[in-house]
Amino acid sequence: MRIKYRLTASLAALLLFLFFYSCKDTPYQQGKILYEISCANCHMEDGSGLEGLIPPLADSDYYRQNILESACLIRNGMEGKVVVNGRTYEQPMPNNDRLTEFEITNILNYINSAWYDDLPYVKLADVRRTLNACTE
Ligand code: HEC
Repeated sequence: MRIKYRLTASLAALLLFLFFYSCKDTPYQQGKILYEISCANCHMEDGSGLEGLIPPLADSDYYRQNILESACLIRNGMEGKVVVNGRTYEQPMPNNDRLTEFEITNILNYINSAWYDDLPYVKLADVRRTLNACTE
């Protein structure tokens, strides 16, 4: 009886540990999963992009200056030239109208927390306002 209790208790402790351990990675699990499904094919899992073809999302000066506006380009895609860290890219990025504003917010927060030390938390209300005002 007592052994059984101890076993259950240590199993519970182990499960609790594993649960918190798996969350420790990033506080933006949904954003990470969505990033891996919708963006990583092109921008790579580590956000480094593809030499000369796909711009990086990690340490991108363009992203840094256009965090909220990126919500529009995620939804509507992007065409034409863009200069990122001094390099010009001009492959088109396809649109993605299946992502909700909530999911886009989570992706942006995942990018901000995974690859930048100093970017602010992005609020759903701000992403919603930006998406409603996208020019395309
Ligand atoms: C099919 C490939 C592809 C996919 C998938 C894709 N992108 Fe892009 N992305 C590009 C390309 C190519 C550009 C450059 C577009 C241009 O030159 O006008 C770009 C540009 C960008 C930029 C602006 C430039 C920079 O690097 O800072 C951001 C931000 C961005 N993508 C975020 C995302 C996010 C977030 C996702 C997932 C929701 C995503 N992209 C999915 C190919 C892709």
